[in-house]
Amino acid sequence: MTDGMLPDSAINAGAAAIREGAVVAFPTETVYGLGANAYDPIAVARVFELKGRPRFDPLIAHVASETQAAELVARIPDSALALMRAFWPGPLTLVLPKSDRVPDLVTAGLATVAVRLPAHPVAHALIERAGVPIAAPSANRFGGISPTTAAHVRAAFGASLRWVLDAGPCPVGVESTVVAVDAETGRCVLLRAGGIALESLRAVRDVDIPSSPLHRIASPGQLDRHYAPSTPLDLLGAAPEPGSNERVGLLAWRRPDSNEGYAAVEILSETGDLREAAAALFAAMHRLDALGLDRIVAIPVPETGLGLAIMDRLRRASHRG
Ligand code: TXA
Ligand code: MG
Repeated sequence: MTDGMLPDSAINAGAAAIREGAVVAFPTETVYGLGANAYDPIAVARVFELKGRPRFDPLIAHVASETQAAELVARIPDSALALMRAFWPGPLTLVLPKSDRVPDLVTAGLATVAVRLPAHPVAHALIERAGVPIAAPSANRFGGISPTTAAHVRAAFGASLRWVLDAGPCPVGVESTVVAVDAETGRCVLLRAGGIALESLRAVRDVDIPSSPLHRIASPGQLDRHYAPSTPLDLLGAAPEPGSNERVGLLAWRRPDSNEGYAAVEILSETGDLREAAAALFAAMHRLDALGLDRIVAIPVPETGLGLAIMDRLRRASHRG
């Protein structure tokens, strides 16, 4: 299946599996998710087990309607409502005070819950038919590159994951933008750059960029090293030119002036379109990583629009130690 939709029977089977407590990998418009019934702590524990996270990071609860979102949160400030109305369904996750219905394992014990209403038709149908919110991280093993195809998911989990709904490549290609909304003041803070550009959010509401590293703690999933290929990755400028005795891959967001000396080249967008580049990013990283290169060099992208999310992922992928 590559057209973004699946037969009813496949979605119904996945929804039944979710209700029975199984873990189901499913497509969203951003990346594939590794989903479980958000109301079933045992099912959610299976997600952590499969991912191999060293500790419990808070997960995003995926919903099929605003009503379902309202079950998960204690309060929706006006600013959050304005962002929901503008960007749902779509790649925006809102962090809000949680209701008593949300198990602690979903939020890693935090008093807040991350909620998102995905735009992908398969994700939407799966959640609706399961009849429960689906808690899901990206469907990669801990620290690895996020999956934008079902093949990436299968390569990461193999036979340990029975349920993979394959609806082709994810159209957006980078994870959702995460915004925390203060329940008292309504203040919005960007926790992760992603599929909705900061400029678009700001056309609707003020969104602050955290200035202090305290927000690392506010969003515990934001480890420095993340989305990382097993091949060392450097940003161009921070890395030496390829030597003659090494095989180096080039990850370029548009056609580079020169790619001489590189053993492999991935061009994310011929025309330098950042949306196209975001959609192609993780698949290109997976391909370069599979070549057994000595290292990968990435060309920095301008940090406007989706470029902010792309640079965030490249910086994390290049972080060592
Ligand atoms: O696009 C996406 O968001 C994908 C698809 C599957 O929906 N999901 C995803 O999940 O990227 P994950 O687990 O890889 O990233 C979730 C991010 C992490 O940075 C986590 O720390 C943050 O959301 N997060 C979740 N709950 C939070 C909370 N209560 N407070 C602050 N940050 C939270
Ligand atoms: Mg992830």
